[in-house]
Amino acid sequence: MVHVVVVLFILVTQVSAYRPCPKCGKIKVPYPLSTDENCGDPRYRINCNNGALEFMSASGFYYKILSINPKANKLIIKPPLIQENTCYSSDLDQGGLMLDENLPFNISTRNTVMLFNCSDNILLSPLNCSSSSFCREFEEVGEGCGCKGTLCCHFLKDSSMTSHRIRARLGGCTAYTCVVDKQPDEPLESWNFGIELQWLPPF
Ligand SMILES: *[C@@H]1O[C@H](CO)[C@@H](O)[C@H](O)[C@H]1NC(C)=O
Ligand SMILES: *[C@@H]1O[C@H](CO)[C@@H](O)[C@H](O)[C@H]1NC(C)=O
Ligand SMILES: *[C@@H]1O[C@H](CO)[C@@H](O)[C@H](O)[C@H]1NC(C)=O
Repeated sequence: MVHVVVVLFILVTQVSAYRPCPKCGKIKVPYPLSTDENCGDPRYRINCNNGALEFMSASGFYYKILSINPKANKLIIKPPLIQENTCYSSDLDQGGLMLDENLPFNISTRNTVMLFNCSDNILLSPLNCSSSSFCREFEEVGEGCGCKGTLCCHFLKDSSMTSHRIRARLGGCTAYTCVVDKQPDEPLESWNFGIELQWLPPF
């Protein structure tokens, strides 16, 4: 009985050891996000690299964290670069963005994903690949230029789809970008480029 009480006491004190992480450069690291095993909650691991925060995918690719909204349990990561004069996302070798399903993060339902250089068979899925798709606007600007003239599509990543990956692959679509909370008639200059992730609160 005494043992049980002691074990319970240890469990309770460990769970309540609530220690936010120090700033990463000038950026606050809100609890439960964790840049170090001694602070935050270790399941919410992110990376502090020279004053910049990064999110690591299941395949080990690092995405820059652009903003964090601790009240909404959300953060926005930078979509991978599309390499100049190509239509390849820099995470193509990793198969695109992949989140570890055992971790408490998923892709929110506010992301409009645009896929580029897709093969014909992608047309079978519920995507908008018409000549009026938003993706056509992106092909006209700097980063999307290498994708000009390829088959491109957009879709809202809603709850009917997997919330743990955005796929990029040879023979599928080789590049993608993403806009958070895209409004129908918003001009490209005000698109909020990013991929919004949300996390399950610790308790
Ligand atoms: C595709 O998206 C554009 C831009 O939102 C829209 O005007 C068009 O009606 C959509 N087409 C289809 C087939 O859903
Ligand atoms: C488009 O994808 C194919 C493979 O699916 C690849 O061979 C080709 O180089 C890509 N095009 C561009 C412009 O990157
Ligand atoms: C993603 O996570 C949130 C909580 O963080 C949860 O409410 C939501 O149902 C999850 N979405 C999916 C599709 O699993």
